[in-house]
Amino acid sequence: MTTDQRTAATFIGAVALTGIAAAAWIIAHDRSLESLDFALRNSGRIAFLVLIVVFAARPLQELLRRGWTARLLRNRRQFGVAFAGIHSGHLGMILYKVDRVPEFTLAAILNVPAALVYGLMYLMVITSFGAPARAIGPKAWKVLHKLGVFVLFVAFLDSQVPRSLDDLAPVNAILIGLAVLALAARVGAFVKRRQR
Ligand code: HEM
Repeated sequence: MTTDQRTAATFIGAVALTGIAAAAWIIAHDRSLESLDFALRNSGRIAFLVLIVVFAARPLQELLRRGWTARLLRNRRQFGVAFAGIHSGHLGMILYKVDRVPEFTLAAILNVPAALVYGLMYLMVITSFGAPARAIGPKAWKVLHKLGVFVLFVAFLDSQVPRSLDDLAPVNAILIGLAVLALAARVGAFVKRRQR
């Protein structure tokens, strides 16, 4: 299997798994709106967890240099496209909700941050394949992927912060904690590189 074929299989597999799991959950709960929101919430959270792995892969390797960190870094592209596949499932569920709930219209939900997140994410997926990556060149590729992963990370982190501390669910607190650790690893790796 070529790298491009593996990348495509990972993306399609992640979309399919997310779609099948969400559909099974929603059908098992009489297609209730609560079950759709549950699937939406958890697809968003799982996508963020995978994005944290992508975000932390290089700094972890630079700081720890273990077998598992080297494997993580080697497979970072696959984690990245798996993240995009899961978040495409989130988008599919949003469109399903638009179809089901009259007041949940595209006009009401479309906003610039969401368009930016999805636009960046798909640009990153496309340029994870050989020919498009070569077409934009290594400089633009680096800018797109470095900046892109940072913008996505901040947008997801923002989705986990509640309006009041009393509303902070344990799972959101865990994801925020992991994100802070990933950020600390990035700062640590940056400092280590500067010292060298
Ligand atoms: C048109 C844009 C979007 C719509 C309409 C939408 C819709 C939803 C809905 C209905 C939920 C479940 C809310 C609940 O029941 O508590 C949800 C959860 C979530 N969404 Fe989206 N979403 C959109 C874009 C995004 C984007 C761009 C991101 C990533 C930056 C994202 C990440 C998440 C996350 C992480 C959760 C789980 C939040 C939690 O932990 O409670 N969504 N979304």
